[in-house]
Amino acid sequence: MPSKVEANLPPTNEGYGTHEYWEQRYANEADGTTFDWFLSPTYLLPLFEELTLDIGGKGKGKEARILTLGCGNSALGEVLYDNGWEEIVNIDYSKIVIDQMKSRHSARTKMEWLEMDILNLDFQDEEFGLVVDKGTMEDGSAMLTTKGDPWNPSEKDVVTCTQEVTEAIRVLKKQPGSKFVYFTFGQPHFRKRYMANRPGFKLTHREIGPPEGFAYFMYVLEYVGDV
Ligand SMILES: C[S@@+](CC[C@H](N)C(=O)[O-])C[C@H]1O[C@@H](n2cnc3c(N)ncnc32)[C@H](O)[C@@H]1O
Repeated sequence: MPSKVEANLPPTNEGYGTHEYWEQRYANEADGTTFDWFLSPTYLLPLFEELTLDIGGKGKGKEARILTLGCGNSALGEVLYDNGWEEIVNIDYSKIVIDQMKSRHSARTKMEWLEMDILNLDFQDEEFGLVVDKGTMEDGSAMLTTKGDPWNPSEKDVVTCTQEVTEAIRVLKKQPGSKFVYFTFGQPHFRKRYMANRPGFKLTHREIGPPEGFAYFMYVLEYVGDV
């Protein structure tokens, strides 16, 4: 018997790359569904402490203004909010999931939910201290969906992922410590290319566990200014 989640998968990876797939998926899920594709938000909390600790200017630590890209119905926004980071804007191009999350979290009054394409952000330059992608720029989930050789991604996938990162760093405040952070199972050879060589930014990555099972990575593209 397929699980509800399995039954709601597209026939091919390319299906994940379509707006229609996501709208249909969220329409079929009972309101109240929370689903994290990987890495529980609670497990990530110490990393958020670390990521926001040294953001320059006013928005440091729990004051950080955070943007999450492709939020879906992940618990990340709610877990961060309940642990003190309240300046959070969550975006997704699925109107259905944004409406669900807006109503589900209406008591968390400072947190925003906006229908928006991550490739064309409707924000001014330099609005956020931290921009987060957790499982959106992913093989077989959202952005990296064209069939083919992962060692040689299609031109379409390269353009899409590069554009996502370009938009993410455009809306980052250009002050030391501002960061784009990307949580993924994608190994460095396959992911660094989309973030590398961004003037004014330093790219680092590390494996973040969890201790048992599959390896996940955290990539951090941090504003360091002219060096
Ligand atoms: C694999 S889910 C990840 C959800 C969540 N971040 C998590 O960790 O579980 C990918 C999400 O990205 C959204 N998405 C895909 N392409 C997008 C785009 N171009 N703009 C905005 N959202 C997008 C989908 O609607 C979906 O909710």
